[in-house]
This record gives sequence, C-alpha cells and structure tokens, in this order.
Amino acid sequence: MARLDVTETFHGIMFPGHLHTQDSLQLALKFPFQDTDIVIVSYPKSGTTWMQEIVSLISSRGDPQVSQTVPNWTRAPWLEHHYFAAVLEASPTTPRVITSHLPHHLLGPTLQGTKAKVIYVSRNPKDVTVSFYHFHKIANFLPEVGSFPEFLNQFLEGTLHYGSWFDHIKGWTSQTATMNNLLHITYEEMSLDLHGVIKRVSSYLHSPLLEDEINNCVKHCSFDSMKDNKMANYTLVTADIMDHSKGSFMRKGKIGDWENMFTEELNQYFKSIFQSKMEDCALEFVWED
Ligand code: A3P
Repeated sequence: MARLDVTETFHGIMFPGHLHTQDSLQLALKFPFQDTDIVIVSYPKSGTTWMQEIVSLISSRGDPQVSQTVPNWTRAPWLEHHYFAAVLEASPTTPRVITSHLPHHLLGPTLQGTKAKVIYVSRNPKDVTVSFYHFHKIANFLPEVGSFPEFLNQFLEGTLHYGSWFDHIKGWTSQTATMNNLLHITYEEMSLDLHGVIKRVSSYLHSPLLEDEINNCVKHCSFDSMKDNKMANYTLVTADIMDHSKGSFMRKGKIGDWENMFTEELNQYFKSIFQSKMEDCALEFVWED
C-alpha cells in the first residue's frame, strides 16, 4: 500500500499532511472553545483513544450504546484535522468532546479565557516510543520507519511528526498549578486503577457516577472490550490510511513493553538524554507494571 506521507510543517513541527493542512492547523488555533467543552490533549500513543472512551462512557453513565455505535473520531473529533468542522457539526455529543495532539505553546493561548475542561493524558516515554514505532508501520499517513534505534533517536531529538515529547509534556504539565481547568491523568494510572481514574474524571467533569455505573464504564473500556469494538479500534478506517495487515491499533495495551525493544545500550542512551531534558521537570514516571 502506497504511503500518503505528505508532511505539513507548522510552527516548526511536522504533521501528517494527509490529515492536517496549513488551514486546518491555523483554524485550530482560532477555534472558539465554549466553557462547556471537554478537551482531551495528549502526545500520540499516550492513551488518547482510551480517554475518549472513558469520557464517552462517563457521559452515558456507563451505557455503551453510543460508544458501540458511533466511531470515536465522531464522538471526540480531532481539532486539527481538516474535517474537524464538518464532524463537529454532525457530532451528537453534548457537551462537545474535542481531541488534540497540539503542544501547549500552540493551543494554550486559544484555551485561555475559557472554562473548557482539559484532560491531559501522558504515558511513560519509553512505552510511547515503542507504541509510536509500531503505529508508524500501520499508519500510512506517517513516514516509513527504519530501525528502532533510529526511531528512538528521532524521538529523543524531537524530530518525529507531532514534535517533541519533552516540549509537549513539560508545556502542558507546567500548567497544572495555575490552570484549574486542567486534569492530568497518566496511562499508567488508567492501567493500574481504571476504577479510580473513572471516578476522578467523572467528578472533575461534574458528572459523579454511582458505583454500578463506574463498574460498567470499567467493563466497556477495558483493553479487550475496546479491541473488539469497531467504533474504537480503528478497523473502520480504510487500509490506504491504516494497514491492519501490518498490526493492530489496539496492540498490547501494557505498561513496560519497552523492555522488549530497548537493549541495555539503548536504555543507557535514553536515560542520559532523558535526565538532561527533564532536569527542570519533577514528574515521576511508572516504567513497569
Ligand atoms: P500499545 O501500542 O502499547 O498497545 P493513542 O490512543 O494515544 O494512540 O494510544 C494508543 C495506545 O493505547 C496503544 O498502546 C493502545 O493499545 C493503548 N490502549 C488503547 N486503549 C487501551 C485500553 N483500554 N487499555 C490499555 N491500553 C489501551
């Protein structure tokens, strides 16, 4: 299958041009958020789709009817995609749920002054790299990948599509102290305590749930349920965009898969760059289950 990897460079960051245009990226920065909006923000492969499912299920109080009949990109459309406006208009969700991979230095000013509720999702960067590497193989709108060490190097240099993970996480999490409409949830928290995360997110969204409703959410956003749900596993996307013969979007869903790809040497290399780039950031990461 031919690659669709036209690159669109916007404010120095590369984006897949098949999904984003200069116009759609420009429009994203001018989007008039409403105070009732819920905005899921993440660096790719951090658990975005999982959070979309959690928010959908919280909105329906654990009833899977909507999340099993409406694709996730319609339930929680991507702000920077060229078809965003059309999908948002047709979107049945109230309040609106909007998803974005934009870094804080681009999207933060747009959100300023609104009470839109932002949920920032992060994941330990070794697992992000491994997940992103495998995703490049199935996502034809991203460039062809070489070896994993080459890919890791690009990740650490911040030259992959969607920009630097370091800038993304530091930009958004540095706002948690000052923005009271920003909730930071990690992939590892979702993995280790999904029930607790659903409770926190639902109370942040002013939609507290009953115990049974939380349990229903947990059931329907488990890895196995989502892997089987066509509305969440991206199998509805045509093969020219995602080649499912090369792998699954819902791949492993684990903490610590990096251990299968990182040699001792790569791990040491990662650590040295990570330490220097994260010197000014006190976040703690969970690296294994
Ligand atoms: P892996 O490639 O490690 O399996 P995003 O939605 O940000 O692109 O992230 C995709 C990653 O989240 C993939 O990781 C995918 O399997 C994982 N994921 C999605 N839903 C999940 C769930 N319910 N439980 C665990 N992991 C999930």
